[in-house]
Amino acid sequence: MTATRKAYRAAILHSIADPAEVGLQASHEYFEDGLLVIDQGRISAVGHAADLLPTLDADIEVVHHQDALITPGFIDTHIHFPQTGMIGSYGEQLLDWLNTYTFPCERQFADKAHADEVAKRFLAELLRNGTTTALVFGSVHPESVNALFEHAERLDLRLIAGKVMMDRNAPDYLTDSAESSYTDSKALIQRWHGKGRLHYAVTPRFAPTSTPEQLAMAGRLLKEHPGVYLHTHLSENLKEIEWVKALFPERSGYLDVYDHFELLGKRSVFAHGVHLCDEECQRLADTGSAVAFCPTSNLFLGSGLFNLPQAERFKVNVGLGTDVGAGTSFSLLNTLNEAYKVMQLQDVRLHPFKSLYLATLGGARALCLDDRIGSLRPGNDADFVVLDYKATPLLDYRIQQSRSIEETLFVLTTLGDDRTVRETFAAGRSVHRRG
Ligand code: GUN
Ligand code: ZN
Repeated sequence: MTATRKAYRAAILHSIADPAEVGLQASHEYFEDGLLVIDQGRISAVGHAADLLPTLDADIEVVHHQDALITPGFIDTHIHFPQTGMIGSYGEQLLDWLNTYTFPCERQFADKAHADEVAKRFLAELLRNGTTTALVFGSVHPESVNALFEHAERLDLRLIAGKVMMDRNAPDYLTDSAESSYTDSKALIQRWHGKGRLHYAVTPRFAPTSTPEQLAMAGRLLKEHPGVYLHTHLSENLKEIEWVKALFPERSGYLDVYDHFELLGKRSVFAHGVHLCDEECQRLADTGSAVAFCPTSNLFLGSGLFNLPQAERFKVNVGLGTDVGAGTSFSLLNTLNEAYKVMQLQDVRLHPFKSLYLATLGGARALCLDDRIGSLRPGNDADFVVLDYKATPLLDYRIQQSRSIEETLFVLTTLGDDRTVRETFAAGRSVHRRG
């Protein structure tokens, strides 16, 4: 890869802390005329252009973006790559939706050529939407994860993914066994975890589709490979929760099933958590586990409204997830638009600085990667996006009325989508430029 020393001049905004912990004003840095300096795929400086320009070596190219805002690349803490082709499938709630649409769609990923084609399309879609890191479900087939990692490696993305483990309550064509899921996951960990910027996540689909033996294998994989992630679903839908109670009557609740098999920890991410009790939030916080808030999916499948204030009260790490294909957009801007509405229905206001945090630094924290990504701190990976204030006539007109960066940010999260992303950078290299 070519050494890249370059500087980008534009308005620059990034989160530096959780507004719930430090207040709104101390949670971000904003440079109205800013400069972001990149060296060898890392950020070497960020600040006011007037301060930094005189310090630059004469040979550094400065790219000036007018009418644009640079932010860290977005972080999607929960998404399914094999569900790209079934996004927007009509009319079911979770359990019927899985049987009707999801399982037949995921079946196709036994074919490596199909997995390759969808992996390419999936990664292109992430980058078009300004997402530079994602925590990704594969299908049950190891080929699906090989395809995704091979393409992500070429783009030098920081990406976390894993093969689904699923040995019951699913069609025969889509189940593995406790033993084979262990062996296949282990081989994938050895091949991919820590290669470039790639990480592996042990991925039992959810408690109903794993036997106790398989969940024990998941715990064993975590123990044998410190540093790998755990990625699964938790308390998304009321019928699902009843089913878990019936399948694991000896456990006190859904989270306790995972806890029993030692699946909680600071690299454990549980998607949804829409129906959690206070004790479960406390346990998540005590173990450093994270929850992925997936508003478009929760609305689309009629699962319920995520209680962000409850998670904040217990200091649970929360990231934002699209959950494509139950989620209806790859765009985290669009996802924030829906998150705002989910909060409104609970009479809670989601402030734009909290939104920015959730889509960037909060996601990095949920993934235990805040020492690498999520903010524009010098030393971090140069994963960032250039958002276009003039992306559409309406956005342009609306932003002209804006009186503050806070208002502009709110408008971007309300009206923004893939069109808003002018350019996306991963490790300092341009990986998407809007046509
Ligand atoms: N629970 C188990 N599998 C899935 C899935 O594929 N999508 C969602 N949203 N929830 C799940
Ligand atoms: Zn999901």
